[in-house]
Amino acid sequence: MLNPSERQIATSVLVIGTGGSGLRAAIELAERGIDVLVLGKRPKADAHTTLAAGGINAALSTMDVEDSWQQHAADTITESYLLARPNTVRIVAENAARGIEDLERWGMPFARESDGRISLRFFGAHTYRRTAFAGDYTGLEIQRTLVDRAAQLGIQIIDTCYVTRILVRDNVVFGAYGFDLDSGERYVFRSDAVILAAGGHTRIWRRTSSRRDENTGDSFRLAVLAGARIRDPELVQFHPSGLVAPENAAGTLVSEAARGEGGILRNAVGERFMSRYDVERMELSTRDRVALAAYTEIKEGRGTPNGAVWLDVSHLPRETIMRRLPRVYQTMLELQMLDITRDPIEIAPTAHYSMGGVWVRSEDHGTGVEGLYAIGEASSGLHGANRLGGNSLIELLVYGRIVGEAAARYSVELSAQQRSAGALAEARAEIDGLLAADGRENVRALQRAVRNTMTEYAGVVRDEAGIRQGLTELGAVEDRISDIGVHPDAAGFQDLAHVFDLKSSVLAARATLDAALERRESRGCHNRSDYPDLDPALRVNLVWSGPGQLEREEIPDVPADIAPLMRDVPTAGKLVE
Ligand code: FUM
Repeated sequence: MLNPSERQIATSVLVIGTGGSGLRAAIELAERGIDVLVLGKRPKADAHTTLAAGGINAALSTMDVEDSWQQHAADTITESYLLARPNTVRIVAENAARGIEDLERWGMPFARESDGRISLRFFGAHTYRRTAFAGDYTGLEIQRTLVDRAAQLGIQIIDTCYVTRILVRDNVVFGAYGFDLDSGERYVFRSDAVILAAGGHTRIWRRTSSRRDENTGDSFRLAVLAGARIRDPELVQFHPSGLVAPENAAGTLVSEAARGEGGILRNAVGERFMSRYDVERMELSTRDRVALAAYTEIKEGRGTPNGAVWLDVSHLPRETIMRRLPRVYQTMLELQMLDITRDPIEIAPTAHYSMGGVWVRSEDHGTGVEGLYAIGEASSGLHGANRLGGNSLIELLVYGRIVGEAAARYSVELSAQQRSAGALAEARAEIDGLLAADGRENVRALQRAVRNTMTEYAGVVRDEAGIRQGLTELGAVEDRISDIGVHPDAAGFQDLAHVFDLKSSVLAARATLDAALERRESRGCHNRSDYPDLDPALRVNLVWSGPGQLEREEIPDVPADIAPLMRDVPTAGKLVE
């Protein structure tokens, strides 16, 4: 039935998310002449991609001629602790140079050597220099480049739209439902295909490099309600260097570029502690190791009074800092009045990246729900149990193009769009119900409760008793949601958006805890103090389809052209707590 208060919009392909992956997919669609509409819940110029700092990986060999895409793939699989899906890795590494070329063509201001070659810097655990950059504003420059290109192509973007449901009939997508964050006006979007590019779930920890109201697990909820599944939700990357102060900016990222350029880590008694954890690679070890090392130093009493360690770049030439770490320099002045050319930075691990995400096929990132695709941090398969810094930005360029192409083909070949009045009615009723809710529970307080639970029981180191306690506490939050009060006001419908953020966070938290319980081993970012060793039988992906529902997914063998390039990474004694 036609509801006059709803705006009806039809397009061929709908993209949910205005960050780098969503925009890259939209550009591909528009270049192929396909009608595309992009939706987002925050301003497109300020999508989360803008926070990605240090760089984007491609084996361009402009600095180290020995590098190759096969070596990039080998490093990625090695450092994923063998949980990355080899075909996904191959696709990203093999197509990475093309991703960089696309950006160059659209005007991306990469840092260059004096002879014009694209500069590449070291990031942790890469065999060669292969991280291209624009100072430490790489993500911001990529986002600007993609926004400009999208504007040139006339791509329509609504970045005040909160999507509450993907509309599905008999496992086939036909659109989405949502509301305008300013006016509350409802939207019914009808489309042949939907590309989910709405990020990850790291905002459900207290200290996180995500800002308020972003990465709240929206992709998880939208996908699961549509009939898709989540792969490896427990595999969350804690970046070693998050700020601990001020309180309202806790978790803000200090780019790995600081270590890449020669930054040194020390504990509160002045020891360069990485020699205890990875004497060979020291500060350029993998993120999981450096984060665990910092965590261990703090836990064992060698941290600062604020529960942190020191990251020092003050020995580097001032010119290096100004040219290669300008954002770190500015951020520290703004947030702490600290001059990093003179003083060290107090840092501790921060929840940074969802390495798991919506289950997707490697070849086209289809989700198993016909016409529904997922990309970027919303998706899964590339990173396994530890992500190499710089791999997320290249993934969104590579798969943005591939998924745009796949969705275009799907839309063109679709013979008819089947819709469901029931699915639409359900989406409508959900918002109606929430707007009528006048309970005593406050959304912000419940969001805080989820973050406290996840921080306490699902942080850098976990154990069975804690995870079970986390599940119990989460159950209590779920009960309290039934007595929620929702109060949009003259300023807009943010309060309604926050309830959906909360629902997403709770679902993402449950998936994370369920899978963390099931993964009875320590591997990469997932440290179980009760299972300190890696278990070869758990070289599987864990696929979650609802509370308590987990399946094991086999991982194919590493291809013969990549396997010989992999290094042996010893894990014995990694968990030294
Ligand atoms: O530390 C950083 O600059 C982050 C990069 C990344 O997460 O890829």
